[in-house]
Amino acid sequence: MICESIYERNESFARSAAGRLIDKLEREHCLSAKEYEQVLAACSREGIAYIAPKARAAADAVYGKEVYVRGLIEFSNICKNNCCYCGIRRGNTDCERYRLSEEEILDCCRDGYSYGYRTFVLQSGEDPYYTDERICRLVREIKKRYPDCAVTLSIGEKEKESYRKYHDAGADRFLLRHETADADHYGMLHPAEMSFAHRMQCIRDLRETGFAVGIGMMIGSPYQTLHHLAEDLKFIEEFQPEMCGMGPFIPHAATPFADQPAGTLDMTLYLLSIVRLICPTVLLPATTALGTIDPLGREKGVLAGANVIMPNLSPVSVRKKYELYDNKICTGDESAQCRNCLDARMASVGYKVVVSRGDCRRERNSK
Ligand code: 5AD
Ligand code: FES
Repeated sequence: MICESIYERNESFARSAAGRLIDKLEREHCLSAKEYEQVLAACSREGIAYIAPKARAAADAVYGKEVYVRGLIEFSNICKNNCCYCGIRRGNTDCERYRLSEEEILDCCRDGYSYGYRTFVLQSGEDPYYTDERICRLVREIKKRYPDCAVTLSIGEKEKESYRKYHDAGADRFLLRHETADADHYGMLHPAEMSFAHRMQCIRDLRETGFAVGIGMMIGSPYQTLHHLAEDLKFIEEFQPEMCGMGPFIPHAATPFADQPAGTLDMTLYLLSIVRLICPTVLLPATTALGTIDPLGREKGVLAGANVIMPNLSPVSVRKKYELYDNKICTGDESAQCRNCLDARMASVGYKVVVSRGDCRRERNSK
């Protein structure tokens, strides 16, 4: 009885304007900004039930029932920037700062390699101690010790020359979320000293340097409208990133956005499905933030079209300190071995975590 009524509701969603647009997106992988906005406005249980199986089928056609893992090493929470949403912003004087040494980072890689990780993501605040020379030395050492692994950097805005040096040292991929594709909205999320134009320049520089590039945005960030999200989708469609990181915004108590509401599970799942239909080959993580707002968030993310998870490989002693937002999961003792936990979680929804670099399967130059 219950099943029947859900089925009927989906049938009516299929006939709605948004349902038709989702069908078109599935076929053509692009819509106009106005059309994206119409689809976004239809975010609902019915909309998610309609789009998620299509997105999942698109991901399965490229990646099968496999999910890639990336070992995330949060190697420094020292940051010269002051983004209004972020818990490690320099203005947060309550944040206990730490920086891992090169040896400690290499120890994380050694452990990670033994657990089966074949991608290491080195993430930090914009920490001036980690100069180009230090980053390059580290990248070279990791690639020398683990030539079968990919190295991903997530260390913020740099000059093109620096990106070139990291790439020459052997780094394969770079994550730099655009945060929002709307210049005015960017200005509401960042202090005046940060510039939307520079952010976008960095993203173009990364592409030209030869990196596989990850962009992305928070879902439900303060002042975000459906119009902004439609601009994000248009940007994703045009840029065709190899990776796209999207998680809900979650307020951090020691930031100017402490009292802002968090992004929702539903909107995040809906966006994951839309982005999967725009770019069937994109590497799409079910983020830790998604796992933070819902205990089964990452499993639901995979069922909505995500195909990457990024468990924490940082020493448990520092995990709590890399708090971009409140109540981040996997920061306690019980999480020393996220890998096993995630194997079980993915198996519970019919997916298998694989030991592989997990490169993007988009043909080079096919855009
Ligand atoms: N909530 C959710 N995501 C956040 N990030 C930073 N602060 C928050 C927050 N409060 C995201 C940003 C950044 C990435 C590393 O983490 O999008 O690019
Ligand atoms: Fe970290 Fe489950 S993924 S404890």
